Amino acid sequence: MPENPITDLKWYAANGVDLAVEDEPIDQFAASKPPARPASVPVAPVLSAAPALGNEPETVREAEELAAGAENLDALRERFDRFSGCPLKLRATQLVFADGNPEGRVMFIGEAPGADEDIQGKPFVGRAGRLLDRMLAAIDLDRSKVYIANTVPWRPPGNRNPTDQEIAPCLPFLKRQVELAQPEIIVTLGLVATRVVFDDPKLTISRTRGQWRDLQFGSWTGPAMATLHPAFLLRQPLQKREVWKDMLALQERLEPL
Ligand code: URA
Repeated sequence: MPENPITDLKWYAANGVDLAVEDEPIDQFAASKPPARPASVPVAPVLSAAPALGNEPETVREAEELAAGAENLDALRERFDRFSGCPLKLRATQLVFADGNPEGRVMFIGEAPGADEDIQGKPFVGRAGRLLDRMLAAIDLDRSKVYIANTVPWRPPGNRNPTDQEIAPCLPFLKRQVELAQPEIIVTLGLVATRVVFDDPKLTISRTRGQWRDLQFGSWTGPAMATLHPAFLLRQPLQKREVWKDMLALQERLEPL
């Protein structure tokens, strides 16, 4: 037993290890070492039992079919919840689909649920979410006026970024979500969501943020802007002035519409 289990747990949580998988640690390196093979035994073909990555063509096709068949957001949520093609689902507590008003004029798209969102089943309800609420309030918006979703609806373990393999099977659902919500404007929060929605895996957030682009996303077309992620602002508060400019640009864009 550790001398002070609470201190140890806090240390693990601060380092992103916040998910208990087994009671005892497993040395995966030792476990994956192949047994020594006598020189005379021929090499047999490996029948892989590797877990699905999520971005196999058939998984993405299944996602596209399921998403396309949803006639409204409730049906889409229900189909997404049933879908097992994204490996993140295995470890997450629940689907985190959306919050806010699907009829709102602006749709915000973040990265992925964190620990609080995983428990509550709603996006942006933790510290970053509270900062997002303050960003909205600064320009007279709140969750009754905007719609909020993420690039993936299941929490990546330890709050790491979702991988391309995890995003790919979720993308058809996000596109359908946008098509069904039909926002007038999309605002992406942070690098991951911006690369996904702007369909440019190389873009940098510093060069992209604050600029309007006419986007096509699924069959939706309209103006989109990227801004910095509120979780990044919690670590770099001086960057809030850039987001302030972006929020004013959003307010200005909303006025004449
Ligand atoms: N960060 C995100 O990108 N999305 C959430 O829902 C919460 C934190």
